[in-house]
Amino acid sequence: MRILGLETSCDDTSAAVVSDRAILSNVTASQDELHAPYGGVVPELAARRHLECVQRVLARALHESGVGVGDLDAIAVTRGPGLVGSLLVGLSVAQGLGLRSGLPVLGVNHLEGHVLSPLLEARLDFPFLSLLVSGGHTALYRVNAVGSYDELASTRDDAAGEAFDKAAKMLGLGYPGGRVMDKLAREGDASSYRFPRARVRGDAMALSFSGLKTALWEFLRQRDSPVRVADVCASFEEAVVDVLVDRVLRAMHTTGIPRVAVAGGVSANRRLRAVMSEAVTHACGTLVLAPMRLCTDNAAMIAAAAAMRSACGLPSEDLRAVSRLPLGRAA
Ligand code: KG4
Ligand code: ZN
Repeated sequence: MRILGLETSCDDTSAAVVSDRAILSNVTASQDELHAPYGGVVPELAARRHLECVQRVLARALHESGVGVGDLDAIAVTRGPGLVGSLLVGLSVAQGLGLRSGLPVLGVNHLEGHVLSPLLEARLDFPFLSLLVSGGHTALYRVNAVGSYDELASTRDDAAGEAFDKAAKMLGLGYPGGRVMDKLAREGDASSYRFPRARVRGDAMALSFSGLKTALWEFLRQRDSPVRVADVCASFEEAVVDVLVDRVLRAMHTTGIPRVAVAGGVSANRRLRAVMSEAVTHACGTLVLAPMRLCTDNAAMIAAAAAMRSACGLPSEDLRAVSRLPLGRAA
């Protein structure tokens, strides 16, 4: 199946053409610079910028793929979760193109796109455990099959990427901060400072990152001598990575499932990739990481999720934009 994917759920405008699991093009226009002065995504600005560049991104994705609209089988578009104004831009463009071309328009859950993204370049038998770590979400799922997901744990407050972004802001490193902290942490010593690894009372699997953020705030407030930023980045990163690895190992132990996939923006983190690989291998498991180019938001994962669902005979999501949308079992 040849599918054109569109992704505009937050602050990346992305279009891609996917032929089953092969990516023919994947073009993304980032809005990082637009939102950087505000230290976070400004929804109205995001929606407006999507409107300004979506047609250009779409045209480039089609051009780079060498596939004409007439050669497509369907259009896939993210319908949630995300910022409603941003989602509406992608949904309107997809539906307009659907009307003009007669192609079916398939709604896709953004989280399903992330969770299935590691399967684009690797094989992993079902069931497997999926750690989804992004700026908006941090959760652990049991993936029974395409379309069937049981949530095992999720964050009680901030997502891991959000924690990185807020920490980077406190350190004056700009927005979004995850990538910058990752880079700086490489020159730092992770044992310099000890930040807390939060546990949620009564739920050993649950995640929480707001205490870690507060701990950094208090730490910076109380210091009277300057800190080495690289050491702080490495120590903070180590605390996040420790918690994520701990939960994955617990999930492997309690479910008896040795296969693990990690996806979402934070899965691009070099330290997380290295420590998770070592830990899962040590526990005699198999780990598949999302390919680097598919970690952060992109339309290839949306088109691929639609292709995988359709190959399994599963219905697509409807086309109503929704800000909250859980990842659950097939209806
Ligand atoms: O998946 P994504 O593009 O958007 C959401 O669906 O949320 O993830 C974006 C998040 C941001 O919080 C960003 O700081 C984080 O992923 N991120 C990273 C790295 N690259 C992106 N966090 C840690 N290390 C990285 N290398
Ligand atoms: Zn995402």
